[in-house]
Amino acid sequence: MDEATNVEPASTWNRCDEEGEPTALPPATDGVPGADGRLDGRRGGRLGKHGVRHPRNQLNDLTGNEWMFFTKTVWQTSLPSELGHELRRQHYANKPPALMQQIIEFFTRPGQTVLDPFAGVGGTLLGASLCGRRATGVELEQRWLDIYLEVCRQEQLEPQEIIHGDSLEVLPGLVEEDRQYDAIVTDPPYSPALKKTMCDGRYGWSNRSSPFESFSASPRDFRNAASFEDFYDRMEQVGALFLQLLKPGAYAVVMLRDSYQNGEYIPASFHVAERLRKVGFKLKGVKIWYQTGAPVRPYGYPFTYVPNIVHHDILIFRKE
Ligand SMILES: C[S@@+](CC[C@H](N)C(=O)[O-])C[C@H]1O[C@@H](n2cnc3c(N)ncnc32)[C@H](O)[C@@H]1O
Repeated sequence: MDEATNVEPASTWNRCDEEGEPTALPPATDGVPGADGRLDGRRGGRLGKHGVRHPRNQLNDLTGNEWMFFTKTVWQTSLPSELGHELRRQHYANKPPALMQQIIEFFTRPGQTVLDPFAGVGGTLLGASLCGRRATGVELEQRWLDIYLEVCRQEQLEPQEIIHGDSLEVLPGLVEEDRQYDAIVTDPPYSPALKKTMCDGRYGWSNRSSPFESFSASPRDFRNAASFEDFYDRMEQVGALFLQLLKPGAYAVVMLRDSYQNGEYIPASFHVAERLRKVGFKLKGVKIWYQTGAPVRPYGYPFTYVPNIVHHDILIFRKE
């Protein structure tokens, strides 16, 4: 799903200022109360003093509250179109850098390394830059990398490492170099290109913000897999490489979207999760991401139920 164009106050992420004083904190509405019975941990307790990372937290730099909010299994965002979105929207599936930043901030600490083997126009790479992480992106299509580099120029950001090529060919080279990343954060193509879409262009694409000519013709593009089985096979192959490229205990976060074809719901993310479990990952959770403003169309109306798939599954795996 493309970034929404509607603008709201940025993320719900909260930080402390340079003095360690809390900035605006949303009221905690659920979760585990601290030892003092409070949910927000402002007076200490199990979630730690507000604005202070727990001394035993080796995973990230978040406070107890930030940690707790991220673990919710449903995530609704309405993020601003920023950081070169006018250029990045040429890509059919660009992701909001601020969203990727929040994922990266949970699964790494400042200065650590992130790999995105399906980098596109750089949602993950930009997200990594926003929070001071180093990243490597691999992307099949040079034109997407060119857009990423142009955005970096515009925004005066130092580009992250980018490699042009097929992940299935590039990642074995990184394994040979003994690279070990602190996290993998990626959204691969979601499914093979469907010959028959849900509406066959019937409703037009007027409310889409990305053009459709952005799809590639390369047989190496996972999106051009011959079938869902072929797509799952490729995800399994690349998943085995993910495992080799991660430090022990590190996480791989894979964003996917389910499909609907020939009158049937295809839980593609479920199948990919099974394939990554098969190669040795532990599935630790799924976050359902809903970017408000996704268009809905009357596919089956008034005869039959056909879903409007407006969410992504963010699959969270760990190398254990
Ligand atoms: C869902 S998009 C990623 C979008 C990206 N997160 C962004 O913000 O722009 C998937 C990307 O994977 C790329 N891709 C597909 N097959 C690939 C392969 N075998 N190796 C590397 N990249 C590939 C596509 O060209 C596409 O840009």
